Amino acid sequence: MLSVITRTSLKPSLLGSRAFVSTWSNVPQGPPDAILGVTEAFKRDTDPKKMNLGVGAYRDDSGQPYVLSCVRKAEKILLDNRMDKEYAGITGVPAFTKAAGKLAYGDNSPLIQDNRLAITQSISGTGALRIGAAFLKEFYPHAKKVYVPNPTWGNHIPIMKHSGLELEKYTYFDKNTNGLNISGMLEDIKAAPKNSIVLLHACAHNPTGVDPTQGQWDEISQVVKERGHFVFFDMAYQGFASGDCDRDAYALRKFVSEGHPLVLSQSFAKNMGLYGERVGAFSVACADAEERARVESQLKILIRPMYSNPPIYGARIVDTVLNSPELKQEWLGEVKTMADRIITMRDKLRGHLENDFGSKKNWEHITNQIGMFCFSGLTPEQVDKLKDDWHVYLTRDGRISMAGISSGNVKYLAEAIHNVTKD
Ligand SMILES: Cc1ncc(COP(=O)(O)O)c(C=O)c1O
Repeated sequence: MLSVITRTSLKPSLLGSRAFVSTWSNVPQGPPDAILGVTEAFKRDTDPKKMNLGVGAYRDDSGQPYVLSCVRKAEKILLDNRMDKEYAGITGVPAFTKAAGKLAYGDNSPLIQDNRLAITQSISGTGALRIGAAFLKEFYPHAKKVYVPNPTWGNHIPIMKHSGLELEKYTYFDKNTNGLNISGMLEDIKAAPKNSIVLLHACAHNPTGVDPTQGQWDEISQVVKERGHFVFFDMAYQGFASGDCDRDAYALRKFVSEGHPLVLSQSFAKNMGLYGERVGAFSVACADAEERARVESQLKILIRPMYSNPPIYGARIVDTVLNSPELKQEWLGEVKTMADRIITMRDKLRGHLENDFGSKKNWEHITNQIGMFCFSGLTPEQVDKLKDDWHVYLTRDGRISMAGISSGNVKYLAEAIHNVTKD
């Protein structure tokens, strides 16, 4: 490559940066991120009817980003308190991590009562997963293979791989029913070598919107126990699935009560609308307080060279909301409002498809699925038609971000979906 770049073939403006031209000539162009690529295409579209159903961020009923009222109030408190801007410790703001642990595991969890929950603040859910994967790679004493659902959130795969874990998929979604293939899931988990790591979405599975029922969670717990597997819970949507934070923590708390060894990744991006603040937590259930101290010491050693310590602002907001009884109450109400709006959009979308446009297809899964997403069953070709003919943008796997739908455009969307699916 170098030999063909002569001084005369270089434009004068490149001469000064010649070293760069040759140094990075082996770097191939990478593909755009599947979800961010959808947003780029959406932004270029000038049609007023356009809809972005790609990105998993909540919008209010007028399609606008939503800042929770409890968050605005917490920010005012923080501002009035004129707090300093000193570094947090490596594991973050202690009042935040304490509150995050209680929210996930429950105030009365033995893990918290007995001081055996090792926990650290993280750069939102992604960062928590990354710390967790690095911790398991370094210290999990058995095979470093993690089983993820098929399909799963796209970023799980590179996060696990970058941390040096091997990856395997277990059956999850049933294309025929657009629901859970529970028997396939249980079989695959049973067939995995003993002591494997199994990643489970605690609630509001992304991208499918399909969650096990409480009874199915109990079955999963039993099989995981029989096989001595280790569970990595990813809880990015606590409260977003049912509107009730305790109910959405059912699986996690059930597994804790059954004595499973487990770790947890938490995010406050969705349930507190703190997308850009990057506030989350990673925790490890330990046998006793002495083990907790050892685990926490190693989490610090892992985190220090990654980013030294986490940002404080988002953690202070969450701390202020969760540790004030009034703000917490208000927050729980706002989470429910967000979840309920999505549930209403599910009802309306299905209703318009079946009643207004007379679609003969089965759309039950729109209302059976839960959380931010609907795995619609639309084919990549139908998704392309939605984009080209109707200015409706979503990922080619047919995932619809329900939060992008509003009272004003749900009927238009139903018309568009009916038109691309009717023959
Ligand atoms: C399943 C799942 N896990 C983790 C995350 C991490 O999100 P964040 O890093 O924004 O908290 C997401 C975000 O979409 C997700 O869907």
